[in-house]
Amino acid sequence: MNPMKILVTAGPTKEPIDPVRFISNHSTGVMGYAIAATAKARKHKVVLISGPTNILSPKGIRVSSVTTADEMLIAVKKHLKQVDCVIMSAAVSDYKPKKYNKKKLKRTNKIDKIALTKNPDILLWLGKHKKNKFLVGFCMETENLLQNAKKKLHKKSLDLIVANKVNKEKSAFGKEKTSVLLIDSQQSPIQIKNSTKAQIAGILLDKIEQLWYNKNPIKTV
Ligand code: CTP
Repeated sequence: MNPMKILVTAGPTKEPIDPVRFISNHSTGVMGYAIAATAKARKHKVVLISGPTNILSPKGIRVSSVTTADEMLIAVKKHLKQVDCVIMSAAVSDYKPKKYNKKKLKRTNKIDKIALTKNPDILLWLGKHKKNKFLVGFCMETENLLQNAKKKLHKKSLDLIVANKVNKEKSAFGKEKTSVLLIDSQQSPIQIKNSTKAQIAGILLDKIEQLWYNKNPIKTV
């Protein structure tokens, strides 16, 4: 089997407010690192672009470390030409502070608002420039999981989306088991129930390989 060249993004982005504070989210990076490690174990060529996490770099995988969404977009653009597939499992912050304060904001500054501005939507940009690349997105929804995930699949021109339902009792963040839906534009959704991130990564890669090699059959001379 011809190995694929796969770009994985993982973890959160951190959007600095001042030298000691930032806007971010609960992403741990466990899902993205599990996907990168599984793809590597299957002999695919993997590049991992990672936001700040506490996870050690998987052996034999090239890791490009970034902090902000703007930096992640630059890194994605840099590696895009060389890959067949992009898996955007990073939890990119949708907003960043309009202004970065070079000096620490003091209590005496009496701040009651921080002005925000939108970050680039990396996946939307990828959808517009994907050509024949295979594009996988993730989404987290608190309601209408299937409907919202399908909307994102079409809006961002994805081949596959992994949909997580977020609720108070069971967070999709971290190491615990979780349940997701795998949705493509052709078949009915695949439900993966109460599984580890490594198990989900395995089923996700099965699906990516199946769809990719269907479209790009291996040439035997
Ligand atoms: N994403 C991205 N750039 C952003 C925000 C999200 O590339 N600025 C990607 C994520 O990596 C994920 C997908 O888009 O693969 C969906 O992220 P999600 O936050 O669920 O969707 P949004 O498009 O931001 O929509 P909303 O937050 O309004 O639900």
